[in-house]
Amino acid sequence: LHPSEKEISIEGSRLMLIDDDAGVRGVVAELLSMKGWSVAEFSDAESALDELKSGGFDLVLTDINMPGMSGMDFLHAAKETASEVPVVMITGYPSLDLAVEAMKEGAVDFLAKPFKAEDLHIVIGKALYDSKAKKAATAGPVSRAIEKLPAVARRRLEDKIKELSILHTISETLDTANEKEDIFRKTMDIGQIITDADKAFVMVVEDDNRELVVRAVSGYDEGRLLGSRFSSAEEPFASVIKSRSHSYLNVSGGDLEPLIVGTGEGGRAGALLLAPMLMNNEVVVLLGLGSSMNAPEISNDVLTLVLNLTAKASMKLENITLSENVFSSIIGALNSLINALDARDTYTRDHSNRVTQYALMIAKSMGCEQGVLDSIGFAGPLHDIGKIGVRDDILLKKGSFSVEEREIMKGHVVRGEEILRPLNLLETEKAVVLYHHERWDGGGYPNGLSGDEIPFAARIFSVADTFDAMTSTRPYRKALSRDIARDEIVRCRESQFDPDVVEAFLGSEILKDGNKDKDEE
Ligand SMILES: [Fe+2]
Repeated sequence: LHPSEKEISIEGSRLMLIDDDAGVRGVVAELLSMKGWSVAEFSDAESALDELKSGGFDLVLTDINMPGMSGMDFLHAAKETASEVPVVMITGYPSLDLAVEAMKEGAVDFLAKPFKAEDLHIVIGKALYDSKAKKAATAGPVSRAIEKLPAVARRRLEDKIKELSILHTISETLDTANEKEDIFRKTMDIGQIITDADKAFVMVVEDDNRELVVRAVSGYDEGRLLGSRFSSAEEPFASVIKSRSHSYLNVSGGDLEPLIVGTGEGGRAGALLLAPMLMNNEVVVLLGLGSSMNAPEISNDVLTLVLNLTAKASMKLENITLSENVFSSIIGALNSLINALDARDTYTRDHSNRVTQYALMIAKSMGCEQGVLDSIGFAGPLHDIGKIGVRDDILLKKGSFSVEEREIMKGHVVRGEEILRPLNLLETEKAVVLYHHERWDGGGYPNGLSGDEIPFAARIFSVADTFDAMTSTRPYRKALSRDIARDEIVRCRESQFDPDVVEAFLGSEILKDGNKDKDEE
């Protein structure tokens, strides 16, 4: 064995593990023991800190979020009393920014939950190794041995491992992002960790490529900079957009200063890395990473990781935009179908949209949460789409229906649900289409559900649908006045309608003065 390798053995290291969750602690302790490390477990940071003072530990692994003394407070105290012991933080994704904070405060690394056994072993192994290597280097004669080739080669290998684990984090983290804002946030967080930047922002190219609008920020005073606009024709943005390639610059004062220092104080200098995200080969988003430290250049390894990050984020953005576009074209096509359907029967023109508006008014007066409102707004215009399959001579019939014709008409709810099934509608959306003709007393169709068995949104829709049908002129009768229609709905509470929904209908915007009878104008 090379003397230095003998010196830097990490076997038999003593670890301190702090986590208030006994389950997590048990699993992590067992995984650590597998490597031949001995583990002392603590459920709270206070008692761990006392124990740390008595010495004998090679590393601390601590959770960030704990009742009582937090992981961050522990880190502060540990740096004061036992600064030579490396501390690794455990964090959940939402507190990734805390991890960045912890690294700045002196933590040597972090693990984001959920992590794999392999990640745990790599991170802890590396932290132990680094700490022991540092001690060995300062111990004297060994320092020369470390400078020799095997150690250099080993460091390259470690860098490679670290790089791979960052790449792994980039892909794992971005894979869980489903919205643009989420991608922006996560890209900024990871970018900050990679570059150790104190400021980060995301700008979106808007207004026919003329402007850059700041859509996400990190490390600035709350609210500052968010929503600020910059001209895309100005440097350094213009070159980045034109060349579709990153730019690293040292800035001192000028228009860009707020992006770097974020405080507006004059005369401060700093470094800024701008990395573009592309869609269809055009720059659509800029990631900015700023540091108030003036560094003449950026290391190639760091730059490669950042460009990897923006490339992955671009792909994710492109996917999301693509599926949004596909979805909105389908919805557009369905809405044209609905308009065509309403137009077959001149008396019901705009019926579907009007019913949706009424249903939304009732839902609002019941204090429904946004999710329910969104579902009604989306599925409402499509609620009668199943009527597409009903023949004109039945759909437009002026007299009363035969039993057979009535069954065909009733079939529109089931058919509507079948037509929309490939869109994977949410339960509430499906309910609006399938159950808007169910009755409170169980006498409706298609399933004869009653009372609370009928999904809530469908009960709302039923009142809205009936009110609009009564106040519209039909082939066989003129429109009823709103007062008569209202009284009729009140009369049918507890038979046809949910009494609570009727109550909300009476207090809703529908009956306010602004909404005149359609035929009164
Ligand atoms: Fe219907």
